[in-house]
Amino acid sequence: MSLNTKPLFSYAGNKDKEWDEIDEVLPDLTQITTVVEPFGGSFSLTRHLYSEYPEIKFTVNDNDEQLISVYNTMKDPELNETVISELQQLEATITKKKYDEIKKKTDVTNSLFCRLYGGMHGQFPLKQKCINYEKVASFTDYGEINFTCEDGYEMIDQCCKDDPQLFLFLDPPYVGMCNRFYNNPLHYKLFDILKNARHWKCKLLLILDDNPLTETFCKHFGLNIAKVVPIKYQYSKINAHHIYVTNYLTSLELEQPSELDQSSEEEQSEELIAEF
Ligand SMILES: C[S@@+](CC[C@H](N)C(=O)[O-])C[C@H]1O[C@@H](n2cnc3c(N)ncnc32)[C@H](O)[C@@H]1O
Repeated sequence: MSLNTKPLFSYAGNKDKEWDEIDEVLPDLTQITTVVEPFGGSFSLTRHLYSEYPEIKFTVNDNDEQLISVYNTMKDPELNETVISELQQLEATITKKKYDEIKKKTDVTNSLFCRLYGGMHGQFPLKQKCINYEKVASFTDYGEINFTCEDGYEMIDQCCKDDPQLFLFLDPPYVGMCNRFYNNPLHYKLFDILKNARHWKCKLLLILDDNPLTETFCKHFGLNIAKVVPIKYQYSKINAHHIYVTNYLTSLELEQPSELDQSSEEEQSEELIAEF
């Protein structure tokens, strides 16, 4: 299947530019039957893998209700066509005043229009001059994806971590600067969930902004820090690093066995905990 793998609209935290880096640390996908993204956003990983692995069942979750209703509407061929004609009518008559009114509305057509027309920061007028309706129409290619709207942390708690054929891709909101970490209960929630991840049978890949606390926690929990990747954020132009954490050995470790790889899994965890 030849698929338009671009996101439907620009999305903060989109991982498309990291596909090559991600490819190096993926588990053996021929052994995977289910991929779940609890913090889906523009579901970069699923878009990247979807056409190559038609036999895998993909679930994309996000707690943004509007986003998920847009996806569920636009994956349906009939609804997609109806929304496209509504978008075209809006675009033909748009003014700054009308755009500001539309921004307050939450239904699928209006919220999608704003995401397509105003971009990530709701600029007016549209930077790229006109909406790419071909791309919008091609969203029906994602008809087989299960889009859900739940709390991502609850979802991880509930999913079947005993299933070795499940691949969990976690790309949660960034931990941010260390001094914000202490104020954000969600980060405690994440690290609380991760504390047992080394024992899960499912495969876990976590991407987070790198900082000493994240590294310390991950090592303490016996997780594998597969790599740290330098990143330049597209809009803020900030230079940062993303840390890739797994609960399995990736091809990177398997190709270059370290002392750690030669010990048993149980010993590895103990060594890492001892380091802490
Ligand atoms: C870093 S972004 C994910 C980016 C995504 N991988 C992509 O390629 O676009 C984090 C996402 O988590 C979502 N999110 C934040 N808190 C959440 C929660 N409690 N449950 C589910 N999703 C959440 C945000 O709406 C955002 O889309």
